[in-house]
Amino acid sequence: MRKKIVAANWKMNLTLEQGEQLVNDLLGAGLQLPEGREVVIAPPFPYLLKVKQLISNKPGFFLAAQNCYSEKSGAYTGEVSAEMLRSVGADFVILGHSERREYFSESNAQLAKKIDLALANGLKPIFCCGEPLEVRKAETQNAYVAKQLAESLYHLDAAALKQVVIAYEPIWAIGTGLTASAQQAQDMHAFIRAELAAKYGDAVAQDITILYGGSAKPGNAKELFACPDVDGGLIGGASLVAADFAAIVQSF
Ligand code: PGA
Repeated sequence: MRKKIVAANWKMNLTLEQGEQLVNDLLGAGLQLPEGREVVIAPPFPYLLKVKQLISNKPGFFLAAQNCYSEKSGAYTGEVSAEMLRSVGADFVILGHSERREYFSESNAQLAKKIDLALANGLKPIFCCGEPLEVRKAETQNAYVAKQLAESLYHLDAAALKQVVIAYEPIWAIGTGLTASAQQAQDMHAFIRAELAAKYGDAVAQDITILYGGSAKPGNAKELFACPDVDGGLIGGASLVAADFAAIVQSF
């Protein structure tokens, strides 16, 4: 059975003090996390160690970074490596978020290198894919996402691919208040799973957790998570409010 995951992507928000408060509020929210359910928190880099301390020994809680660099180590001022992230206790790393692709020009090829470094260092990548509005309007979103998957993931063997979590985040839905409808999310998730099945076989594809991201909130999470191929969410704005994020976690 594939895991159900709800991940909090804080992006570039909150002070350390606010972040600590948010984690403590979540830990105090009495979340029910049966076997196979995971909560992943992705704070900014400077707070990773602190959040790790707060969630250590809390079953079902895991730590993610929001990015890592595409080289192993060396003279890359300001960058952070996968090995560093693992050394401070990160379990996951978000890679290929559309904001990274857009503002930092990350390409599918560079992301393939990041995926390899993450996996080599024992980090599970949360690989983001998703189309911009003009692609959705032209109804070519399936081909667009298929290319992202092929160019960043298909060099992996099946065992490596099984470490990857995929997050489908239509760019037009991120931070805009426009959520994909449950049907739009399900259609794309089923398409992604079918693509993975064609490449890796159905058993592997059935094992891959595919998250939805883009203006997910307490009011729409139940409907999204009820879709057979939606295995949870990558939550931005609503992850900054403990009660909202807790409600989303409890929406399965
Ligand atoms: P949002 O962000 O929930 O604020 O739309 C989701 C994401 O970018 O991961």
